[in-house]
Amino acid sequence: MGSKWQMEKHNDPYYKKAKKEDYRSRASYKLKQLDKKYKLIKEGNTVVDLGAAPGGWSQVALEKVGEEGIVVGVDLNRFKKFHEENYYGIRGDFTTPEVQEKIMELIGGKAKVVMSDASPSLCGIKNIDQLRSIDLTYAVIGIAENILEEKGNLVMKVFQGPEYKEMLDSLKGKFRHVRTTKPASSRKKSSEMYVVGLEYMPNKKKRKRK
Ligand SMILES: C[S@@+](CC[C@H](N)C(=O)[O-])C[C@H]1O[C@@H](n2cnc3c(N)ncnc32)[C@H](O)[C@@H]1O
Repeated sequence: MGSKWQMEKHNDPYYKKAKKEDYRSRASYKLKQLDKKYKLIKEGNTVVDLGAAPGGWSQVALEKVGEEGIVVGVDLNRFKKFHEENYYGIRGDFTTPEVQEKIMELIGGKAKVVMSDASPSLCGIKNIDQLRSIDLTYAVIGIAENILEEKGNLVMKVFQGPEYKEMLDSLKGKFRHVRTTKPASSRKKSSEMYVVGLEYMPNKKKRKRK
C-alpha cells in the first residue's frame, strides 16, 4: 500500500496526463495554462527558466520558442539533459552573482521571458517557508530587471504570506500590467500563486513621492 501522498499523486489527473503526454512534470500544465491566458512566450523568444528541474516548464518553453529561440534552465539539482541544441542547462543557485553572470553569457543579450517556478526547500513552518519564497521572488525580480528586454514578460510562483502584497506592489511601475492568478492545475490546497508581469518598462521614471 502506498502512502496517502503517493495515492493522491497517482490519482491526480495532471500527473496522469503528464505521464501520457510525456511531460517531465505535472507543472508543465501550469505554464501551458498561464501561457494560454497571458500569451507569455512566442516563437523565437529567449526564455530563462529559474528553478527548472525536472524540466516540465522548460519542455513547454522549448515547444513554444521553436528552433530559433533559446531556453536557459537553472536549478540547484541535477536534471535530465535536453538534447535540443538551443537549450542550455546550468546547475547552480540563481541567487548568486556567478550563476547570474553565466545566464547573461549564455543568452548573449536580453531575454523576452523570465519565468520561475522555484520553491525554497520547505521546513514546514508556514511563516518561514513564505519568507523564503518571497526572498526567492525578489531574486527573480532582480534578475528580470537585469536581463529582460523592453516589453518582456515575467511569470513567477510565490507562496502567499504577510510580505506578499509589498512584493507585488514593488512590481507596479516596472511592468505595464501586473496580474496574479492560480491556474486550474495548481492544487487548491496549495498557497501558491503565480504573479505575471507583462511588458517590462525599463525606462519608466520612478514617480517622486510628495
Ligand atoms: C517545483 S520545482 C520546479 C518544477 C519545474 N517548473 C518543472 O516544471 O519541472 C522547484 C525547483 O526550484 C529549485 N530551486 C529553488 N531555489 C533555487 C535556487 N536558488 N537556484 C536554483 N534552483 C532553485 C529547486 O531545486 C526545485 O527543483
